[in-house]
Amino acid sequence: MRSIYAWMQSLGVDIGGSGIKGAVVETSSGELLTKRFRIPTPQPATADAVVDTVRALVDELKWTGPIGCGYPGVMKSNVVHTAANLDKSLIGVDLGKALREKCKVPEAMILNDADAAGIAEIRLGAGRDCKGLVMMITIGTGIGTALFNNGVLIPNSEIGHIKYRGKDAESLLAEPARKEKQLSRKRWAEQFNRYLKYLESLFWPDLFVLGGGGFKKSEKFDGVFTTRTPVQFAQFRNQAGIIGAAIAAAEDMKVR
Ligand code: BGC
Repeated sequence: MRSIYAWMQSLGVDIGGSGIKGAVVETSSGELLTKRFRIPTPQPATADAVVDTVRALVDELKWTGPIGCGYPGVMKSNVVHTAANLDKSLIGVDLGKALREKCKVPEAMILNDADAAGIAEIRLGAGRDCKGLVMMITIGTGIGTALFNNGVLIPNSEIGHIKYRGKDAESLLAEPARKEKQLSRKRWAEQFNRYLKYLESLFWPDLFVLGGGGFKKSEKFDGVFTTRTPVQFAQFRNQAGIIGAAIAAAEDMKVR
């Protein structure tokens, strides 16, 4: 049950295709209160293996408060609905329940990882005070997207899987595709710029916020993006997912 006061600190966890990362976060400022721990994502990434890995983070940090967790797929009421880059056996699992039981914490709320990153940026980072439609895009093992209208999240947008040039956009533009084609960041960014323009023609956002591991070195992309929509880089860089998940848990945000 929810306590009558909002938590100010929670453990933010970001479940990714290659690593599961976590840190305790002061949710009013986004400050990390502990070192960020990273454990490689177990292979295969079954529900039990993922839950055990989060538990290892909880134990490492000796954490007993609420957990907020970004998951790389569609999440509704803490239940997994898709698993593009993790083991398909996760689909249908109530990860919130599993984490509460296994980690012995009072609350565990799970939301889409890009939605989590977007929450950090909208509340405290690059999208702060931005009115209208903000689209956050994260580049990593997959393409994550988060949509906010006047600061309100429209969850599970999954625009990274939009059909683009006849294919799933993620299969053309996420990090594995860039590495496989041995594209320099600059060449890749030219292709990504065209995808941004395509999204712009469909959604007409007021701001794009770009984050995730693919944009860690944001200075490399100065002046590359030529959309009419302004482009900003995630202020919390690759930590946005951890911070936003912690905020969502602290506020007990319902994603349904
Ligand atoms: C998933 C999204 C996720 C993104 C980034 C995609 O494959 O479908 O839900 O946000 O990867 O992890």
